[in-house]
Amino acid sequence: MSEAFSTMFRDEHRQVRDGLLDLSTAFGEREGKRAGELLGRIAALTGPHFRYEEESMYPLLVQIFGPEYIDALIDDHDVAIAGARRLVELAGTELDDADVEEAQRLIRAILPHVSDCDGLSIMVERLDAADVAEIFAARERTLDADLDLLTWDDTVRTRPVLVA
Ligand SMILES: [Fe+2]
Ligand SMILES: [Fe+2]
Repeated sequence: MSEAFSTMFRDEHRQVRDGLLDLSTAFGEREGKRAGELLGRIAALTGPHFRYEEESMYPLLVQIFGPEYIDALIDDHDVAIAGARRLVELAGTELDDADVEEAQRLIRAILPHVSDCDGLSIMVERLDAADVAEIFAARERTLDADLDLLTWDDTVRTRPVLVA
């Protein structure tokens, strides 16, 4: 079960990684339209992904990491969401050097979470099988709901409170 989880999780991060690196290239080439399309694809992937992490997986990992580190991971999501909003704005404009520089800075602020988050699967291996099953079930629910990142943030997301 946890091996299946790691494989699935790695694959999702790989798609987000590739999307962000392609996005960086698109901004570098001042291809705003292409950047906008990539942002749409990344938002479609990360909406359900962030959601099952915040609704199920991250809270289950508090028993291992304690609440502070998990809270920091959710801070990373806040940074990614705010960055995505600004990147969408930038993609819709005539891109100049300063815009490209800002876009690259925003993308680089998001990238470390992709690799940090992927590393969590080594800890998921230590969760009970029932907990891993619950993460998969949460993932199914979020995929069915199919809310992109910004729609989820606008309509459903409330930051989980992990530190009492
Ligand atoms: Fe993740
Ligand atoms: Fe995450």
